[in-house]
Amino acid sequence: MRDTLRGKTALVTGGATRIGRELCLALAENGANVVIHQRRGDDQGSELAAALTGRGVDAWRVEADFEKPDEYESLIARAAAQAGRLDMLINSAAIFPAGALEDVTLPDVHRAMQVNAWVPFVLSRDFARLAGKGKIINLLDTRISGYDWTHAAYILSKHALALLTRMSALRFAPAVAVNAIAPGLILPPAGKGGDYLDALAGTVPLQRHGAPRDVAQAAMYLLRSEFVTGQVIYVDGGMHLAEGSHGPHPHQ
Ligand SMILES: NC(=O)c1ccc[n+]([C@@H]2O[C@H](COP(=O)([O-])OP(=O)(O)OC[C@H]3O[C@@H](n4cnc5c(N)ncnc54)[C@H](OP(=O)(O)O)[C@@H]3O)[C@@H](O)[C@H]2O)c1
Repeated sequence: MRDTLRGKTALVTGGATRIGRELCLALAENGANVVIHQRRGDDQGSELAAALTGRGVDAWRVEADFEKPDEYESLIARAAAQAGRLDMLINSAAIFPAGALEDVTLPDVHRAMQVNAWVPFVLSRDFARLAGKGKIINLLDTRISGYDWTHAAYILSKHALALLTRMSALRFAPAVAVNAIAPGLILPPAGKGGDYLDALAGTVPLQRHGAPRDVAQAAMYLLRSEFVTGQVIYVDGGMHLAEGSHGPHPHQ
């Protein structure tokens, strides 16, 4: 079972940092080659590529700004040309803009929809066409079990990606499996530190916050599975179970 990813190649969007980085490291630990996507290449990307090759797999880097169609529309072809093949796609890159429903604008919604839902879908469709078979994972958010009133454009985009996960799973079957992971309290948002996580850990049913490793473990399961598609795994310590009130998210 452990070796089923060996020799296969994955493209991880937003792969150089945070959860994306952990996904790349887990892939390498399981013998998979990795194409690390970044908006713009930097030292973090080259250091991660070196760390991956140090684990005995191949690693490449590819750039694309998800707000620029001429960049993201060629991403799958460029990644496949570099690596020679693509077997897996993990859509992790995203933006998390603040903004209440009362204030959200069409440009806010357009930008979040483009980066968080449209581009992952375009990459998935291109992957299905080009690779012919394989596995796709979309990163959602446990907040889709509620409304997240303070990130209106973001939550709309993650709901759209959740629906696209189900639609793609049906349309791309049987050759391509499409699943999702909905993380909860894993890493603090920009500008917040570890104390943010500690302060909120008590709001999680399992009374702790998670770690990028927890997301990577779920991803490795989905990438190995041969009989799961259209599924969402909530890696959130049970947070989605407490979201039925549709009120303000307790993370705020
Ligand atoms: N962290 C959590 O606790 C948590 C909780 C729930 C859901 N999630 C979801 O899990 C995934 C990973 O989370 P994360 O916190 O690791 O993500 P993140 O740090 O917020 O973002 C990941 C990457 O997305 C890239 N990105 C943003 N805008 C882009 C654009 N226009 N073009 C290309 N790349 C762009 C960023 O690149 P730049 O650095 O160049 O901007 C960054 O490297 C996301 O989909 C997120 O929504 C995370």
